Amino acid sequence: MMFQAPKGTYDVIPPFSSTWLAVKHALSTPPMTSGYGYIETPMFEDTALFVRGVGESTDVVSKEMYTFEDRSGRSLTLRPEGTAGVLRAMLENRMDRGALPAKVWYTGPNFRYEQPQSGRYRQHTQVGVEAIGSSDPALDAEVIWMAIYAQRELLGLKQVRLLINSLGCQECRPAYRTLLLSFLSTLNLDEATQKRAQINPLRVLDDKRPDIQKLLVDAPLMPDHLCVECSDHHTAVLGYLDALGVQYENAPRLVRGLDYYVRTTFECVHDGLGAQSAIGGGGRYDGLIETIGGPALAGVGFGLGVDRTCLAVQAEGIDLTATQSLDAFVIALGDGTATAAVTLLGQLRAAGVKSDFAFDGRSIKASMKSADRSGAKFALIVGQDELAQGTITLKNLATGEQAVVALELVVTEMVARLS
Ligand code: HAM
Repeated sequence: MMFQAPKGTYDVIPPFSSTWLAVKHALSTPPMTSGYGYIETPMFEDTALFVRGVGESTDVVSKEMYTFEDRSGRSLTLRPEGTAGVLRAMLENRMDRGALPAKVWYTGPNFRYEQPQSGRYRQHTQVGVEAIGSSDPALDAEVIWMAIYAQRELLGLKQVRLLINSLGCQECRPAYRTLLLSFLSTLNLDEATQKRAQINPLRVLDDKRPDIQKLLVDAPLMPDHLCVECSDHHTAVLGYLDALGVQYENAPRLVRGLDYYVRTTFECVHDGLGAQSAIGGGGRYDGLIETIGGPALAGVGFGLGVDRTCLAVQAEGIDLTATQSLDAFVIALGDGTATAAVTLLGQLRAAGVKSDFAFDGRSIKASMKSADRSGAKFALIVGQDELAQGTITLKNLATGEQAVVALELVVTEMVARLS
């Protein structure tokens, strides 16, 4: 019997995996160069952490968690997102008692039992950041800048839009919620939507169905009902984004799928991806740290989807593989050449020349075919006759041009040709 990857999952294999790695690297670069320390936490946590931290009313907690009992009867859950576990770790390791804001970045898989479709999987990978202990709007702007800089400048994505909203706070949201609920109660909504409105009326605003959107044209919107502090905060965030040269769109109906957001909320959407267009999102979550048993500390962060960002890169035809392709392919031709060829291979790799080798000592024809297939720029042929004279043949695989080079000068010659 042949096994298959579980439903809703896929393998990241070559050559696609080089795009995957390049995307992960690009998304990680802004936090790595902006004072964020790397953190890695377990892939499973106490179920109660997610129930409290992500919110019982969310789809993620109510329908999508991979929850199991271990052999001692503990209820554990594969993490559906990164924030709750990372905050738990920051508190447990007393990072909240050190210099603030404490800023970390992370990457890894998350698990959600969703209906699989293009861009929606049961295991997906994120690069994320969390910054706790500061309410400074400049920190919101830093987090948003990092997300969009990686996508627009480092990956070169052209079709990403940055949507920004403020969801208010514990002071101003309850009154707005009541206002919105009473507006929704005047509409002729189907039963499922009514039910959703009771649980979290703000989620209804985010309903993508055109007939629902038509009914919502006159709905009251959060940005028009912010308290003075939230309104000032929002204005300051937008001002800093202008200062950083970040283009954004105000999206007063943007509500995200997780319960913990207050004030700044944002999403990066890609127009070439169809239904699953959000390639990343995040926002402020002041209050969440208390919910999971910590002190009253503010926080802000994002999660960027590696899977969907790869789809966006492919949709725009961007090639990220160039930096990872091979420089040299070494071929040993004939008896007594293997040791010299392997020695050369080691020297090339030590000098940073990306190199591979024609294993199994096949014919020149088969070896040259392997060299072509490898995508290397040069084939280095170590033949018996040349070796006897202390030389090898260097062939440019793009132009076909050949040169005979002294064995002890090959590494220098390659480094020069590649620079
Ligand atoms: P999220 O919006 O649930 O936020 O996920 C972040 C990103 O992960 C999404 O924009 C999407 O690109 C990707 N993603 C989510 N679910 C799937 C899936 N089933 N298949 C493929 N990709 C997916 C969070 O998880 C928050 N923890 C982000 C955050 C950090 N907010 C503050 N700090």
